[in-house]
Amino acid sequence: MEIRVKSGEVIKGAGEILVLSHYEGEKLSSEVALVNKRVGGGIDEVVASGEFSGKFLKTLVFRTDHKIGFARIFLLGLGKRSEMTLDRLRQGMGRAASCVREIGLTRFSTLVHGEVLGYLPVEHRVQAMVEGILLGLYQFQRYKTDRKESLKEIEECTFIIPDKANLSSVEEGIRFGKYVAEGVNYVRDLCNSPSNVVTPCRLAEEAKKIAEEYHLQVEVLDRPDIERLGMGGLLGVARGTVEPPKFIVLEYEGAGKKGRPIALIGKSVTFDSGGISLKPSDNMEQMKYDMTGGATVLGTIKVAAQLRLPVNIVGFLPATDNMPSGTAMHPGDIVTILNGKTVEVINTDAEGRLCLADALSYAARYKPTAMIDLATLTGACVVALGHHAMAIMGNDPNLLSLLKRGGEETGERVWELPLWDEYLHQIKSDIADLKNTGGRPGGTITAGLFLKQFVGEIPWVHLDIAGTSWNGDAPRPYTPKGSTGVGLRLLLWYLCHQVRRSGRDTRKLTSSQRIARSAPH
Ligand code: BES
Ligand code: ZN
Ligand code: MN
Repeated sequence: MEIRVKSGEVIKGAGEILVLSHYEGEKLSSEVALVNKRVGGGIDEVVASGEFSGKFLKTLVFRTDHKIGFARIFLLGLGKRSEMTLDRLRQGMGRAASCVREIGLTRFSTLVHGEVLGYLPVEHRVQAMVEGILLGLYQFQRYKTDRKESLKEIEECTFIIPDKANLSSVEEGIRFGKYVAEGVNYVRDLCNSPSNVVTPCRLAEEAKKIAEEYHLQVEVLDRPDIERLGMGGLLGVARGTVEPPKFIVLEYEGAGKKGRPIALIGKSVTFDSGGISLKPSDNMEQMKYDMTGGATVLGTIKVAAQLRLPVNIVGFLPATDNMPSGTAMHPGDIVTILNGKTVEVINTDAEGRLCLADALSYAARYKPTAMIDLATLTGACVVALGHHAMAIMGNDPNLLSLLKRGGEETGERVWELPLWDEYLHQIKSDIADLKNTGGRPGGTITAGLFLKQFVGEIPWVHLDIAGTSWNGDAPRPYTPKGSTGVGLRLLLWYLCHQVRRSGRDTRKLTSSQRIARSAPH
């Protein structure tokens, strides 16, 4: 889909449909008022009659009878002015774009909405709008052989701005938003794909593809390497499957050789049957998305490379299926993690933490400034927070509060759970250092506490995305059913924040790096 910008008067523009926005209980904005006049007061009428209130996400389409160059006007309600946020703008555009597609049109024009957010640079509003459009239009159709029923794709979106002054800012916003949304949709594609396609081997190929395209370093450790290193957790989980496990390391060096990296670790269980502690068959098919953390790490590094962010990142994906078989790990087995700690496996379905324990121990060897792991780790997280917040836990108050802020600003919200020592007794084993389950009470916390044993002194946060990475309910404005791709935008926010803090010389940056640096988010 092509997204472009044109400067000039709206009323002189032409096309199939023009997206205008309106705040609930307010007067028409000056631009909308101008259009209203040209179309004979039609907008005023629908607002006055209550047909279109401007309530958040309410929409109305009407024909202009060729009084202006646009054949139709699309009214988008942005809700109360005082409640406006960047995420509402994202949601509004997601809704608008899908409605336009629903009508059967293939192109639309829009203004830059959300002027109450004028304290933000205009590129941020444009970025959020582009994200909303591209994320909202996402469909996973790779396995539909008959496309007759599917909707026609939108081919073109034009931003109309009044004068040339903002042209390059809007272009930057479009570029940035496109990379981000395409990155999220890349994650969605990987997670919606079945586990007979997205195997550990395929994840390794994806990492290699990204490395080749953006000239990054990639290393794929095979079973013999993993054995030699002594990653007993990952190997234990991989014992039940014929799919060879892979330990994938993808490195992006945007800040030169000397800079210490940020480590991103993603749970990459390509299918979680539970192993010998087999899961019930209801919804088991969904466990193909148990590699969302890993896919998100790949997607984030890809976008960071596209934007040439001046940071160093290393991504770690401990990838394997979790299957029952004659060779599978037994409940009661003891495995030794890379850092030497021993774990009694009480439940083979608590496999994610075993793989992550090895990955965190390994990542710590890179002496990163921070480690962030993402994992669809516990069903208890879904119980605690439902589908609208990830659980966040960690050992560093600064890192935690930073990511909480990022969560608010990106709309990918997090909620902290405590890692108090009082919970630790639940995961102490009688015969090994730890056991891999802590019983039902505080299941998300004991999982987090388990991971904490493998990070040492490095600032670290753990994001449990079990409840947020899949939309099993109705489509949301920019989140269709299936994989949500949650996490990438938050990680990218964090990376951009690091760039700004490092205060690098802007003259040496490309324009996209400059926007990353000026980003308040
Ligand atoms: N991948 C699952 C967690 C999960 C559940 C993710 C539902 C998304 C939706 C994880 O490996 C798991 O099975 N966890 C167990 C741990 C328990 C045995 C301690 C769980 O939550 O039941
Ligand atoms: Zn799992
Ligand atoms: Mn499991």
